Amino acid sequence: MRSIMKQDMHVAGTIYNNMVGHAFCLAAGLRPARLCEPGLTGGVDMAESISSYKILGALGKGAHSTIYHICRDDERQFALKVVPIEKKEHAKYLEQAENEFRVGQMLDHPNLVKIHTLELQRDWLWRVKKVHLLIELVQGKTLDQMPRLTMPQLVQVFEKLAKGLTHMHRRNVFHADLKPSNIMISKIGAVKILDFGLAWIRGKPKHRVQGTPEYMAPEQANDTIVNEQTDIFNMGATMYRMTTGMLPPSTIAAPNCPPIDAKMFVNKLAPVSELAPTAPPELCDLIHRCLSFDPKKRPQRMLEIIEMLGVLIEQLVQTDEDKLESMGW
Ligand SMILES: Nc1ncnc2c1ncn2[C@@H]1O[C@H](COP(=O)(O)OP(=O)(O)O)[C@@H](O)[C@H]1O
Ligand SMILES: [Mg+2]
Repeated sequence: MRSIMKQDMHVAGTIYNNMVGHAFCLAAGLRPARLCEPGLTGGVDMAESISSYKILGALGKGAHSTIYHICRDDERQFALKVVPIEKKEHAKYLEQAENEFRVGQMLDHPNLVKIHTLELQRDWLWRVKKVHLLIELVQGKTLDQMPRLTMPQLVQVFEKLAKGLTHMHRRNVFHADLKPSNIMISKIGAVKILDFGLAWIRGKPKHRVQGTPEYMAPEQANDTIVNEQTDIFNMGATMYRMTTGMLPPSTIAAPNCPPIDAKMFVNKLAPVSELAPTAPPELCDLIHRCLSFDPKKRPQRMLEIIEMLGVLIEQLVQTDEDKLESMGW
């Protein structure tokens, strides 16, 4: 780790890419990472094993991954998600990374991060030991690391999130894990949704229930349902957090407690208008509708949310300074 952080460290190409990884690179129009002899990779420290990339630093950490800022030989910069697969129990992380790549290939939208390449690093017994995902670099911060945004900035961010999610839904993909740490804002105000590891493609087998309880819809947490309505709930929870600074109550009951029902949830959900008195009533109302316990009471389509946010943007964004692009941080 120490050596990985070192600037200007040129990393020798030592990955043995399998043919699938090689084909993925070609499909994505990228030069595949250098092929080396099999067997060289066993026990090699990460610092030496990222093909012909230079690692410039660490960008973040996920539940079972580290994301590095890298520069390739052709001077192009990317984010590289590295997922170690060390034990049998890690098989689910391999599945998630492959799912993230598959989903990424189905999407092409300015508010969704682009996933370019997947590489599998194997040991001499052909077991996958590490997964590398080459991802569009976002030079910025996740929403949970940002200083408090102004109301005009927030509604613009929300609209872009809704646009990215609409693109996913049109392609029959549901994110299932929208939350502030999976959203980035770049220094020039671009908004990008990240992390498609738990995204579900309609028709494919369902994943285990995972996620952050406070952002999950009740039917997602209890019945593993994922669809446009659960993404709308996740979006409502994200808007609630960003507008009030507080998390909505969890929809999952604590151990040995009765299940959470609609009444209990509503009683625990402090009104946005109380926590954020400067929020326009239409925004407060929209957030509460998205957080309806009953999916039928939520806005039925993401497009409806885009329209409402469009009206709010017209009202709130008055000067150039209000625009996301002029955030300048
Ligand atoms: N493309 C990217 N550009 C810059 N930083 C990123 C990028 N992707 C992820 N990160 C950083 O890494 C963190 C974890 O990434 P994420 O994809 O959410 O991993 P996980 O799937 O393990 O949760 C993010 O919260 C963010 O800080
Ligand atoms: Mg994540």
